[in-house]
Amino acid sequence: MNKKSIKDLDLKGKRTFIRVDFNVPIKEGKVADDTRIQGALPTIKYAIDNGAKLILASHLGRPKGEREDRFSLEPVSKKLAEILGQEVHFADDCVGDEVKQKADNLKEGEILLLENVRFHAGEKGNDSEFAKQLAELADVYVNDAFGTAHRAHASTAGITEFVGQCAAGLLLQKELEVLGEVLESPKRPFVAILGGAKVSDKIPVIKSLIEKKVNKLLIGGAMAYTFFKAMGYTIGKSLVEDDMMPTALEIQKEAEAAEIELLLPTDHKTVDSYDPLNSMREMPIDFTNSGLVGLDIGTETAVIFEKALEGAKTIIWNGPMGMFEEKPFDTGTIAIAEAVAKATENGAFSVVGGGDSVAAIKQPGLDDKISHISTGGGAALEFLSGNKLPGVEALDEK
Ligand code: 3PG
Repeated sequence: MNKKSIKDLDLKGKRTFIRVDFNVPIKEGKVADDTRIQGALPTIKYAIDNGAKLILASHLGRPKGEREDRFSLEPVSKKLAEILGQEVHFADDCVGDEVKQKADNLKEGEILLLENVRFHAGEKGNDSEFAKQLAELADVYVNDAFGTAHRAHASTAGITEFVGQCAAGLLLQKELEVLGEVLESPKRPFVAILGGAKVSDKIPVIKSLIEKKVNKLLIGGAMAYTFFKAMGYTIGKSLVEDDMMPTALEIQKEAEAAEIELLLPTDHKTVDSYDPLNSMREMPIDFTNSGLVGLDIGTETAVIFEKALEGAKTIIWNGPMGMFEEKPFDTGTIAIAEAVAKATENGAFSVVGGGDSVAAIKQPGLDDKISHISTGGGAALEFLSGNKLPGVEALDEK
């Protein structure tokens, strides 16, 4: 990477503003999944060991530019303190005189976590006045928020205009290295699994993967119904994007021309309507009648997808195979998680990104069986689509 690293900075005694991605799920006031906090630990520990005064900033959720208690980062400060076994000071805002005083009073190795930067409209607006206020807390700036690197916001981009030295954190570097390698020199066969609700969200990444000549493209989740409807199947009341049907057909043609095997589900789990969900039946895709809603891939598809992963040397997976949050429509996604773990044991390098896919890996405890669990969903997709990430572009060149 041609960007400056935290390791290129002299941190001793410096107020080191670290943009992390602590956008983690909070349930009943507690952190429900600490993957992203764990991901930031190498940078945090490096900064502590090198005498920095740490000021950590993040967003959580999507508040509308004003305070909303359910999006407070306070539970995260408790979790971080517990993990590190050291006090984490918490500021109930991210700018202003009181916060600045707290930052100025830090001793070497101490940590101050700021309140959610999205409690200010200036964050998402990349407002330069707000960015300047954030910069007042910093002697040096480090971006370690890979998950947010695709956003040009005040704490990921604007702030770099006002801080002398701006470098990448260790997590950001690692993510870029791993994903860069997968995209530029994957060992083959290279298999991509894409799921989720919308084809429109995944078009750039599908096109980029076709360009990179991925060997197999496995498509599940509700986005598959746009393909089926375009192919003339009856899909009942399943989710569909009508305006994306021509794109779906174009993708199939492009894949065929590039000799890429594009696999769609052959069967699925359906219900009579969204409510009640207890009318579940499994059936071939082409048996679907007009009253049904498809909510997950079927057993046969899971077996076909698992077979398609056999012998793979590189696998990337983003997006669930069905309505993962609702049992029993999580089983297709979990079956794929197991198949990816198995293929990894058999020698594949696997990369999984995106909230639901990562949750499906973690639920049966398969996380240590995956080569790289990315802390970025949207950011990883953006990177794999070949796009530049504003949070990375804003950093100093080496
Ligand atoms: C994510 O969860 O993908 C990142 O934290 C970015 O969040 P956002 O989509 O709300 O910008």
